[in-house]
Amino acid sequence: MPRVVTIDGPAGAGKSSVARRLAGRLGWRFLDTGAMYRVVTLAALRSGADLASDHDLGKLVDDLDVSWLAGQVLLGREDVTAAIRGVEVTGASRFVADSPSVRRRLVQWQRAFAAGADTVTEGRDQGTIVFPDAFRKFFLTATVEERARRRFADLQASGQSLSFESVLEDLRVRDARDVARPIAPMKPAEDAVLIDTSGMTIDQVVEQLVGRITTTDQ
Ligand code: DC
Repeated sequence: MPRVVTIDGPAGAGKSSVARRLAGRLGWRFLDTGAMYRVVTLAALRSGADLASDHDLGKLVDDLDVSWLAGQVLLGREDVTAAIRGVEVTGASRFVADSPSVRRRLVQWQRAFAAGADTVTEGRDQGTIVFPDAFRKFFLTATVEERARRRFADLQASGQSLSFESVLEDLRVRDARDVARPIAPMKPAEDAVLIDTSGMTIDQVVEQLVGRITTTDQ
């Protein structure tokens, strides 16, 4: 059985960067499950689907042609890796994340992805719902102010101009929604190791995780 390491936590806690780098260190595959919710959101926005309709979203996701290719996300033949990071997709993704039909299908995609090879996966529900028997589970946190600072710097680097205050407020709203989601709410698995990444660099976090993965006890 291939092994799975799960990394869950709130937006901006550094999960993606940490998980990607950790996967590189271990020589494992990396799965960004947020990108899955985002690509479904992009397709839903483009098709004009009713975002509040679980039925419509379920139908859309069943017919979707998505592939994951060396860090790229393809919708049909189009590379949408950058498009799924836009502000509009981020804002609308909560509807898709709240849809039971979408979640059911994406859990299948995620398990299929990890069935092929050892995988580091990141999201909100990886340790609790998708991979309850994972080899190691981590939950990364950081103060909301620190996460907002990181997000703000990323957005500025990618040329998106938002105020720091709006980024902070957006994270507070997203945290509240992720925690209150009726299905698969964000929470640490009972057997997850909690790591507060405030004040830590990505490399420092990766070192901690590597240490915990390569020792026999957690
Ligand atoms: O981590 P992210 O910002 O790329 O996530 C995009 C959206 O998907 C966000 O609304 C949270 C949601 N999500 C989720 O519900 N479950 C996951 N495993 C991953 C992301």
